Amino acid sequence: MTAPPAPHQRWDPDRYRSEAGFVAELGLPVVDLLAPRAGERILDLGCGEGALTSKLVALGCHVVGVDASADQIARARAEGLDAHVLDGRRLRDEARFRAAFDAVFSNAALHWMKDDPDAVLAGVAAALKRGGRFVGEMGGFGNVDAIRRACHAELRARGADPEAVDPWFFPDVADYRARLERAGFAVRAIELIPRPTRLPGDVRGWLATFADCFLTALPQTEREEAAAAIRARLAPDLQAADGTWTADYVRLRFAADLR
Ligand code: BEZ
Repeated sequence: MTAPPAPHQRWDPDRYRSEAGFVAELGLPVVDLLAPRAGERILDLGCGEGALTSKLVALGCHVVGVDASADQIARARAEGLDAHVLDGRRLRDEARFRAAFDAVFSNAALHWMKDDPDAVLAGVAAALKRGGRFVGEMGGFGNVDAIRRACHAELRARGADPEAVDPWFFPDVADYRARLERAGFAVRAIELIPRPTRLPGDVRGWLATFADCFLTALPQTEREEAAAAIRARLAPDLQAADGTWTADYVRLRFAADLR
């Protein structure tokens, strides 16, 4: 669930658990779409601290988790999972993973692999046995648009360039279908799913967990004030009268088979 090329994105497993527990919970339909069978070998790409990796293990699968965050992987290993630090773009260089898996699963991670999504897909294809499945969900076109626009506006107001630090890749159906096909997959299903998501607390917690890269682009002395200003920009759209916050998530969910 956590992956990198975001230059300044840091992951704190404790904060992740308290602010982002819903990520694994809401990822359960993706596990259903994967339809894992006991005994299968599965690669969990962007496994984060391993909440869904554990679910797959509990279903009797042999699961390897990879994630670019050393802190998240340390937490996953402490839970007894077979988990390794790996940048998704380097997957195709891993000889030990060559044609080793019946399926690759990925929840809420691929949108962090902005720099070279095609290299990631080439790695997924290389890791799969022929006919293997790639099933995943990521942020899709329009995902967290209000939050993204507020972060951009606040950075621009402070003289910083938000494009230079924006870490997210939220493709539409046509874009990602074409990439999957170019990587050698037959796409079985792909759809954009708007999924407004109630946050467990204040949007400041979400920003601290997921939008660190915008705030760290500013001088330390401005970050608190900028986070408060982003919150104020978002309140009219995302905060309800009872004070609760709902983020404007849009998922891109897909299932594809290696030809
Ligand atoms: C997502 O899961 O869609 C997401 C999470 C954090 C930041 C951006 C997107």
